[in-house]
Amino acid sequence: MTTVTEQQALPKHVAIIMDGNGRWAESKGKHRVFGHKHGVKSLRKAISFANEKKIEVLTIYAFSSENWKRPEKEVNMLMELFFTVLGSEVKKLHKHNIKLKIIGDISGFSERLQKKVQQAEALTQANDGLVLNVAANYGGRWDITHATKKLTRMVLQGDLTIDEITEDKINNTISLGELPAVDLMIRTGGDHRISNFLLWQLAYAELYFCDVLWPDFNGDAFQDALDVFAGKERRFGQTSEQVAPR
Ligand code: IPE
Ligand code: IPE
Ligand code: MG
Repeated sequence: MTTVTEQQALPKHVAIIMDGNGRWAESKGKHRVFGHKHGVKSLRKAISFANEKKIEVLTIYAFSSENWKRPEKEVNMLMELFFTVLGSEVKKLHKHNIKLKIIGDISGFSERLQKKVQQAEALTQANDGLVLNVAANYGGRWDITHATKKLTRMVLQGDLTIDEITEDKINNTISLGELPAVDLMIRTGGDHRISNFLLWQLAYAELYFCDVLWPDFNGDAFQDALDVFAGKERRFGQTSEQVAPR
């Protein structure tokens, strides 16, 4: 049973950069693709863990706008894996009342994959359990650019004035704006960088980096991140005294 204090210390929204698949495979003398396939198993574990812990939103980085620069064979294989996994997992997600949403420039994908994405989102759209956002062909700079274009169009059409472009307005236009802010961002694989993930949305997230390679990430590793998060004092610009519980 979770106590009230434990519940308060739990992040509502966790974002994950699932990194290290290639190195994991190479360390075993295998092709990088082997690591991506094992990465799917870790993803399943992370989703069940988030669901059991009653985390409200999980946002995962599956394919960045820069990942197109990888060798064509690896990109093709990742697209194929995305297609297969969407097909095989969506019913399970639906059964667990999980709402799936893809964030990113879907128009960069094949027609076949775009259709699969739309079907998966449609099936789960009325679910009110865990919200699972998959960032695919996503870049934080793309997201900001996309929101800017949307707002500019509204101004040109006379539906918005320049003074109405506030932080709230941008927040409501950019990806994930309708959801609780990201509380915790986890990156596996040992690198301490954002790699063009949620640039706007991570403004006040706690950042947690671990050396575990993504295919080795499991419930214990996720729990370690939650434990570190629970020990953080989040001040949002205020002093420690101001935010201390009375
Ligand atoms: C993350 O693992 C998965 C994707 C970017 C699709 P990597 O493929 O980046 O693995 P490393 O970082 O090369 O080990
Ligand atoms: C970030 O990992 C993207 C995803 C996990 C999908 P990368 O492996 O692409 O990041 P860099 O290139 O090391 O910064
Ligand atoms: Mg990587």
